[in-house]
Amino acid sequence: MSAAPLLSLNNVSKSFGGLQVISDVSFEVPAGVRMALIGPNGAGKTTIFNLISGVYIPDTGTVTFDGTDITSMPSRRRVGRGLARSFQNIRLMPHLSVVENIMLGQQSRASGLIDMTLPLGAGSRWRRDAEELLAHMGLGTFPGEVAATLPYGIRKKIEVVRALAASPKLLMLDEPAAGLNPAETANLRDFLKTISDTGTTILIVEHDMGLVRSLCDHAVVLNFGKKIYDGSTRHVQENPLVLEAYLGSRHAKDHDAEVHREATDA
Ligand SMILES: Nc1ncnc2c1ncn2[C@@H]1O[C@H](COP(=O)(O)OP(=O)(O)OP(=O)(O)O)[C@@H](O)[C@H]1O
Ligand SMILES: [Mg+2]
Repeated sequence: MSAAPLLSLNNVSKSFGGLQVISDVSFEVPAGVRMALIGPNGAGKTTIFNLISGVYIPDTGTVTFDGTDITSMPSRRRVGRGLARSFQNIRLMPHLSVVENIMLGQQSRASGLIDMTLPLGAGSRWRRDAEELLAHMGLGTFPGEVAATLPYGIRKKIEVVRALAASPKLLMLDEPAAGLNPAETANLRDFLKTISDTGTTILIVEHDMGLVRSLCDHAVVLNFGKKIYDGSTRHVQENPLVLEAYLGSRHAKDHDAEVHREATDA
């Protein structure tokens, strides 16, 4: 018998202005796993993250997290319950220091207004926690640096650590390796394995299939807002529906490039 999943989506659908973006999607994320959510551009991956994290509410269907129906729960309360995410585009506060950015991620753990203002103190428990977390994650040399001045690969990692500062049960990462070189990607993979070893469940949206396969055992694949695969990452690239989805999108891209070339040639 398998344990109750940490997260489950049940028949979730979402439309924007009459356009069906997510159609009847169901899947489960068991506690403790590293799972990937993949699919071609525009398949609906970020929208699924937005539905899980509470940016959007589904039109129909339910989202259950850690035994509670969170379908309509405000985002902030979801974070408080142990659900944290990073964003596809880096959302660090550029003018704040690295440690201050991590402290913003801790806010969901503060119990009230007074507790929330405490992090501002130089020697506070919150600041110490943030510095310890950075050191633990191999970023201990950067706490005082202003975020905007750091290289892209470091900022991507800080974005992950900020989500982690909420001490989540489920860490959701939207394309954490986008724009990283192979060495930085390998470093990120080891980093995510360290996080996972502490018991944190990881759900990752990622286009880099090398990273997906070396990090995750299980993948859910979306295409045009529908689930087309839910199974092992070992066989995902041989699945006919998955192959067709990716080939189709490549054809579409080639076609777009062709049209663009024609337009610029004209
Ligand atoms: N707020 C919105 N209003 C209208 N359409 C939206 C909205 N959010 C997403 N969409 C549309 O939903 C579809 C899925 O978008 P989504 O960003 O979820 O795709 P994705 O799989 O994350 O793609 P990518 O790999 O490019 O990040 C796209 O056609 C997008 O234009
Ligand atoms: Mg996306």
